[in-house]
Amino acid sequence: KGKEKVQWVCSNCGHTTGQWWGVCRSCTQSGTMKEFHAVADAKVSGFGVFDDALGSWLPQQEEAELRPMRLAEVNRGLDHLHWRIPLSGPFGNEVSRVLGGGLVPGSLTLVGGDPGVGKSTLLLQIAAIIAEGFQDGEASPVVYVSGEESIEQIGNRADRLRIESDIYLYSSNDIEDILKKVQYLSPAALVVDSIQTVYLKGIMGSPGGIMQVKECTAALLRFAKKTNVPVLLIGHVTKSGDIAGPRVLEHIVDVVLYMEGEKYSSHRMLRAVKNRFGSTDELGVFEMSHTGLQAVSNASEMFLSEQHLDSEILAGLAVAVIMDGSRTFLIEIQALCLSGSTGSRQVNGIQVNRADMIISVLIKQAGLRLREHAVFLNVVSGLTLAEPAGDLAIAAAICSSCLEIPIPNDIAFIGEIGLGGELRMVPRMEKRVYTVAKLGYRMCVVPKSAEKALGTEGLENMRLVGCRNLKEVINTVF
Ligand code: TYD
Ligand code: MG
Repeated sequence: KGKEKVQWVCSNCGHTTGQWWGVCRSCTQSGTMKEFHAVADAKVSGFGVFDDALGSWLPQQEEAELRPMRLAEVNRGLDHLHWRIPLSGPFGNEVSRVLGGGLVPGSLTLVGGDPGVGKSTLLLQIAAIIAEGFQDGEASPVVYVSGEESIEQIGNRADRLRIESDIYLYSSNDIEDILKKVQYLSPAALVVDSIQTVYLKGIMGSPGGIMQVKECTAALLRFAKKTNVPVLLIGHVTKSGDIAGPRVLEHIVDVVLYMEGEKYSSHRMLRAVKNRFGSTDELGVFEMSHTGLQAVSNASEMFLSEQHLDSEILAGLAVAVIMDGSRTFLIEIQALCLSGSTGSRQVNGIQVNRADMIISVLIKQAGLRLREHAVFLNVVSGLTLAEPAGDLAIAAAICSSCLEIPIPNDIAFIGEIGLGGELRMVPRMEKRVYTVAKLGYRMCVVPKSAEKALGTEGLENMRLVGCRNLKEVINTVF
């Protein structure tokens, strides 16, 4: 029996030390060092090298040939690095966009998200698309390994998703076993569902524990780098990070994608928060249907309520144009002003400070009598408006409700509001305005400077109305 050795592991960042510290020396969080007992002579080599001649696993070896290389030498060998595994079709394109143009061979990608958001569904569909792309030419299988479900369960899901491509299913929790079996197939890609359910023999802790999570991920990374097989790893990881060690994972892997969805909506967003091979400024938008995830074609308009698209128009609604990553979204701001009550404010989906400022500017600079009004503000579909570019739409919605004059539903508003009631330019004005025009809006209200800068090219069917301040906006729209 091996001698017990005590180790301290930070539950936040995974930093490991032989001594207890009140504050983690790596991530400086306090009270996160947890005690672990390891068997001192246990094999902690992780995933080793599979020796074909011996037919067995050898421990991890250092690469002997590594040496500094000349730049020219490096660049000559770079061609293969630009090669990416294409993902075709509308669904594939959407995933591809988030990955920065396809899946990079030898990369390790973590797909995080709340349990039940649709990660297994997403990855099974990605596996199918990769397999389809490889059907002509040499047959490279795609392997989907689940530590959560039996192969029958995965098979059932694949049926529901109407997947017909040739993917290999495997159910196992033992990383060494998984990688051994998978290596024989030399697959085009490997999916592991999920990091919380796999373990590595000889590593302390149970599956899902911080040490297991860390070492299993490291083993998968070594596998990816050594075999050049792209590995996609699922993790029940929330952005707030309430599950042990999400930060550990983020440090180890090449790409981190988060899948998000509002509770009562079928929309799912896939967002890159880390990408060693591309920008993190990308967002994929999907809809969960009974046959799986589908790319959303009219993503720009998906946050508009149905009433908005109807003909009957209510007072207090205005459309803002916001950017998320490189995508433009139209969202609906709702305001309700109740006269004859104290000036209370209820705000939902907008920063309270921002709302207060806009209301104050409307009182002072536009002469609105909001002091005697209760003001309610809401952003439709549970979104949070974080951009100043939405200021003008918020102000317009409040004006509309206060004056009880509806705003026609083919007008959009873009602009930041200053304390003097002046309208200001916002980043990527051009992209926003063209999206609005493309969607068939009749009018777009923008700061005066934007009107001058943009000209009229491509905007023949939409009136671009530049205003200097809120007073001008009110005179134009109401
Ligand atoms: P799942 O992929 O299992 O989520 P995760 O792996 O992130 O835990 O999917 C969860 C939900 O998706 C589940 O409640 C059922 C729903 N779903 C559909 O709506 N349509 C489908 O085609 C599939 C496969 C699942
Ligand atoms: Mg799952």
